[in-house]
Amino acid sequence: KVADFKGAKEGKLRLAVVTTAKYFVPQLLGAFCQQYPAIDISLQVTNHQKLKRRMLENEDDLYILSQPPEDLDLHLQAFLDNPLVVVARSDCELARKKNMPIEYLDREKFIMREPGSGTRQAIEKLFSKHKISIEVRLELGSNEAIKQAILGGLGISILSQHTLRYELERGELAILDVQKFPIQRHWYVAYLGGKQLSVVAQMFLQHLLAKSPEYVECLNLKIPVPQR
Ligand code: PGA
Repeated sequence: KVADFKGAKEGKLRLAVVTTAKYFVPQLLGAFCQQYPAIDISLQVTNHQKLKRRMLENEDDLYILSQPPEDLDLHLQAFLDNPLVVVARSDCELARKKNMPIEYLDREKFIMREPGSGTRQAIEKLFSKHKISIEVRLELGSNEAIKQAILGGLGISILSQHTLRYELERGELAILDVQKFPIQRHWYVAYLGGKQLSVVAQMFLQHLLAKSPEYVECLNLKIPVPQR
């Protein structure tokens, strides 16, 4: 309870999050800052590899990510799902197909995130498990750029479901019904083992765990995601 922290309502909070978390963390921070206007925030949004580098340098109080590095001593708490789905332009033929075998993906032009991306690691792991080799048509360093490339007709991709809300609502992009998808992942909030969290960081951690379901609920799609 925040009341436990009475008197500690100023200070600085340093957060670093992976790219897919930027779709809900700013809203969470908004509510937090309204409650505690004297707290200064620094929010870094970056990919998995750069986040790990920040961890090694002990640059932040808290981290939000999907694949906690196994070689680091971290306090971890899983708090929400972060599924990865196959995305295409809604007018493409695949958007109407049902229950496609994963092998269909290797016929498609694929748009991939940069090396160092956690999304990419998860995709490569699944493809190597199923011995799929895909033709990477284009490599792009941001989820937003990938969405634009899909809209521009350059290919298909695999992205966190939470990056897609508006394009799905507008009917511009579609989630493809492909076997083995979604790739089920979680968001974790993490901090370094042995680190004494500041009072402000503890307050934000509690706020995150209590409130994030509401904000992520807004990102959940009205269009059902194929599940099996
Ligand atoms: P990424 O991480 O931006 O490094 O792909 C996102 C995620 O792992 O969900």
